[in-house]
Amino acid sequence: MTTISQKSTISNSESIILLCKKNCDFNNYGLSKAEIDFIKNEITKKEKFFISINQLNRFVFIQVIDDKKEKTQTWESLRKAANSVHLLIVENKIENITVVDAENNPSEVLAFTEGLALSNYQFLKYKKEKKKEIHSLKAILIVGKNISKSVIDELNIVVEATCIARTLVNEPVSFLTATQFSKEFQKLGKEAGFSVEVFDKSKIKALKMGGLMAVNAGSIDPPTFTIMEYKPKNAKNKQPIVLIGKGVVYDTGGLSLKPTPNSMDMMKCDMAGGAAVGGTLYAIAKAKLSVHVIGIVPATDNRPGGNAFAPGDIITMHNGLTVEMVNSDAEGRMILGDALSYVQKYKPQLVIDLATLTGAAIAAIGTSGIVAMGTADEKTKNELKQSGNNVFERLAEMPFWDDYDELIKSDIADMKNLGGPNAGSITAGKFLARYIDYPWMHLDIAGPAFLTTKDTYRIKGGTGVGVRLLFDFLKNISH
Ligand code: BES
Ligand code: ZN
Ligand code: ZN
Repeated sequence: MTTISQKSTISNSESIILLCKKNCDFNNYGLSKAEIDFIKNEITKKEKFFISINQLNRFVFIQVIDDKKEKTQTWESLRKAANSVHLLIVENKIENITVVDAENNPSEVLAFTEGLALSNYQFLKYKKEKKKEIHSLKAILIVGKNISKSVIDELNIVVEATCIARTLVNEPVSFLTATQFSKEFQKLGKEAGFSVEVFDKSKIKALKMGGLMAVNAGSIDPPTFTIMEYKPKNAKNKQPIVLIGKGVVYDTGGLSLKPTPNSMDMMKCDMAGGAAVGGTLYAIAKAKLSVHVIGIVPATDNRPGGNAFAPGDIITMHNGLTVEMVNSDAEGRMILGDALSYVQKYKPQLVIDLATLTGAAIAAIGTSGIVAMGTADEKTKNELKQSGNNVFERLAEMPFWDDYDELIKSDIADMKNLGGPNAGSITAGKFLARYIDYPWMHLDIAGPAFLTTKDTYRIKGGTGVGVRLLFDFLKNISH
């Protein structure tokens, strides 16, 4: 973990990054006149936004803030810029770096620092030869008059929670079974201060969670159903906000086995929604937000073992509705349906589910954002979208017209778990809508949850998507 902390003075022997606009005053940072002239020339004549000065005993990096049309875009450009600086930091084995708010741009400095800290994440648990690979960067220090300790504390928490979610996603199923996943939530609850209850297989069966039991039927490992609750005395909301995360710890497709070998390669990521929910509970509890939140994660692997339910089987769900299960690879909606039905008992103010639910979501918008839909009011939708823009985990809202309901009708059951060839992410959402009686948003994170190619500060592998989004959203509710 990279620690981010605050200090008030800068010495001439430490590596620094100056964040400033074009006409910054570069005196007082230990730069010679020749160096300052060089920097100014680079900025004005060559229109450069990044300059690196190697003073032999230290580096001075200058990052010019490039103001975009929207603040949120400027912040994102700085998170990305930080990722490039991170490469230089690692290359030069720099251990401590001081980020300087040279001209009073606190939100820009925080975005940059966030990008830097998130870039420093690594998953090296399974590398024996990791010495050479460990990033040199240990500590980020911030110098800025208008950046408070509490804001820095919060940034530390959010970065840590995002990295916790990343690690859970990166863990293979050989370690992260449903049982282990629940244990991880228990650890997080102890550390951050929220309660965790885990239902085992017999309890899940007794509760008649037919969807979760069905998906688990082909597996050797038992399912779990985890309930996390953070309820501070000063909560602003009367009724809880419920977060539900898909927790398929591995998705082979079941008997409807995934069609091409490589379509299974990244399926350890199919619990990324659950990881985001755990990470979010961790963050809000640590930051002591004044908001009552319940986190729910139904978890199992999806395998074609001996008793695996066969395509065509009819399953009775937690709310009593029946599903013709045409395709065992559309398993996410089965376990989420039960969870959505179960949480009706809380009379929630709002429910948000996060799930790596459909390949169709990736086909629609790629890895750039989250496919969103739901029944919440416009105000709530707009607040969630605004949070998405703030942290750049953006939402693309799909239509949720009645037409799509037709596509999941079954001749012999109340619905089927498969739509037609088109609008796959929406028909999946329509399936989920049959289990709600409260305002609800569905976030399909199949695109951004796990990246298979090099990226910027989101980095390759599990991204922890959802944690920063939900933290921002809940923070706004808490004050
Ligand atoms: N877990 C997958 C969706 C997925 C695909 C997530 C790629 C991340 C990356 C989901 O359970 C699934 O298999 N969905 C099927 C649904 C289909 C059978 C209706 C899909 O999208 O192909
Ligand atoms: Zn599947
Ligand atoms: Zn899945």
